[in-house]
Amino acid sequence: MALAAPTAQLRLQLLAAHLAVPPAAEADAPPGLARRPCRAADNAAVPNASKICSAEEAAALIPDGVWMTIAGFVGTSMPELLLRAVREQFDATGAPANLGLIYAASVGNSKGRGFDLLAAEGLVDRLIYGWTGSAPGFLKLVRENKVEAWNLPLGVVSHMIRDVAAGRAGPVTKVGLGTFVDPREKGGKLNARTTGDVVRLVKLGGREVLWYQVPDKISVALLRGTTADLDGNVSFEREALYLDQLNQAMAAHNSGGLVIVQVERVVDRGTLHPRAVHLPGAIVDRVVVAPPDLHWQTLREPGYDGSLSGEIRTPLHSIAPLPMDERRIIAHRAMLEIDRPSCVVNLGVGMPEGVAVMVATHAHQNPNTKSVTLSTEAGAFGGIPGGAQRFGTSHNAASHVTTATMIDFYNGGGVDIACLGLAEADPAGNVNVSNFGAGRMPGCGGFIDISQNAKKVLFVGTFTSGGLKVAIEAGKLAIRQEGRLQKFRAAVHEKTFAGASANGRTVLYITERAVFGLAAQPGQGGSAVELLEVAPGIVIERDILPHMGFVPLIRGKVNQMPAQIFQP
Ligand SMILES: *[C@@H]1O[C@H](CO)[C@@H](O)[C@H](O)[C@H]1NC(C)=O
Ligand SMILES: *[C@@H]1O[C@H](CO)[C@@H](O)[C@H](O)[C@H]1NC(C)=O
Ligand SMILES: *[C@@H]1O[C@H](CO)[C@@H](O)[C@H](O)[C@H]1NC(C)=O
Repeated sequence: MALAAPTAQLRLQLLAAHLAVPPAAEADAPPGLARRPCRAADNAAVPNASKICSAEEAAALIPDGVWMTIAGFVGTSMPELLLRAVREQFDATGAPANLGLIYAASVGNSKGRGFDLLAAEGLVDRLIYGWTGSAPGFLKLVRENKVEAWNLPLGVVSHMIRDVAAGRAGPVTKVGLGTFVDPREKGGKLNARTTGDVVRLVKLGGREVLWYQVPDKISVALLRGTTADLDGNVSFEREALYLDQLNQAMAAHNSGGLVIVQVERVVDRGTLHPRAVHLPGAIVDRVVVAPPDLHWQTLREPGYDGSLSGEIRTPLHSIAPLPMDERRIIAHRAMLEIDRPSCVVNLGVGMPEGVAVMVATHAHQNPNTKSVTLSTEAGAFGGIPGGAQRFGTSHNAASHVTTATMIDFYNGGGVDIACLGLAEADPAGNVNVSNFGAGRMPGCGGFIDISQNAKKVLFVGTFTSGGLKVAIEAGKLAIRQEGRLQKFRAAVHEKTFAGASANGRTVLYITERAVFGLAAQPGQGGSAVELLEVAPGIVIERDILPHMGFVPLIRGKVNQMPAQIFQP
């Protein structure tokens, strides 16, 4: 018999058969699920179906003490209704208690929405994450020593979830060597309460690598998609990213656990095209329909932007050019390093986001030149990456892949040029961006995965921070007010990038007034920061050396930064 779309009559028969399933069929459910048969969803338009239930019913199925994983990335793909239901139930009953959470990146608005809904003492007792900057409530629990916590490279956490799904012991990789996740430094441990070793140094074929040991099981996955059918097949047509949701579902399913997916609508069987189904119904246990106000595409705004999901392309002129300031100078100088055809680029959070705007403006003004391929570790290839609450997404992306797959590509050297934020650097070129002191430690995110494997690395940021004011007049840069904090210091306390891992790759430190490079320095810890260029109008003895915690290597003549950068 040919495989054709079911006829309307057959669909009705299927639906009737489905609805006729007696509640006893719940006996097939995994242990723990059978206790609470699901009722019809809140959405009265949805007929009874065994997998559709209310958020409260779904939350009540979560056991105490297990590892749980949640969808989301910075401001994108938040299962907000599910998070709320879990918190409300915890406040009312004290359950679920003592959960372990494992996630690549938190999602939230840093003001209570998102993962922070779960940041309650007793609800969570251990964390493994790549980045948690959008959930400061967790950082507070970490600082107050109320939870155990490990910060590991974002891509490593993504692969840990995949390895739980695949029944493997955990990633074995050089990613993290020499940084604060190396067990010879901190092993990624974030506070005194955290004593267990997740990261181990092992030798494989005579070479040092790190083994990141995964939990035996991840028993719950809280996910989200766009459309579910009555059998729990879920499609992602209005989502901005796939992230790791398929691996999260597979990990929970293979752990004998529970996969709960929040969606915006439910459709009949046979509606979804099999190629559109990202989460197969066979591994989805519960579907919860969320109202639009608890199902934002990104936390930037309540509306839906079709250029993030691939439905439409947004015209490039809608992206406003950068105003002339230090941010634009830095982005422009970085762009001169990356704007050659056919290279793949990754841009980090913060200052590097300006480079995306420069590339968009340049592409708009030069429609016939071939543009570079910007990409995000979250999984977008091409297009113009979004910033802030949309970090990780891309407008007009050429293709979407999962985070774990993008990280595979990055780990193998797929990034020609990485442009990452610069918080603090030392004479050996080590960079600290994971810990800003005073308890501000959002985590390394993809910084380590990317900086250790990209063919060329640009660290971008202002030369000093905290009140820095500059002026650009007649093509020259003038420092009107110096920043209070120096970024080039005698020592960095936490190594997110190890200068010694450069291994001959080009590494540049680009600021508004100077460009530094990482030079090989045999016998001096392997590497040294070298002054390569200064901005027009800048005097090295006045504007640079007194504002650094060390004297950089200066070999011969220091070049001027290209004049075009300082023209309006
Ligand atoms: C849905 O199931 C509930 C009990 O689980 C039942 O009371 C209700 O009548 C059912 N609705 C339909 C439309 O079958
Ligand atoms: C959805 O899931 C069910 C059972 O898990 C399956 O029979 C059906 O063919 C799936 N796919 C689509 C595209 O409907
Ligand atoms: C770097 O790391 C240390 C913690 O180890 C922190 O105290 C310091 O303030 C950090 N600095 C910056 C600028 O990131």
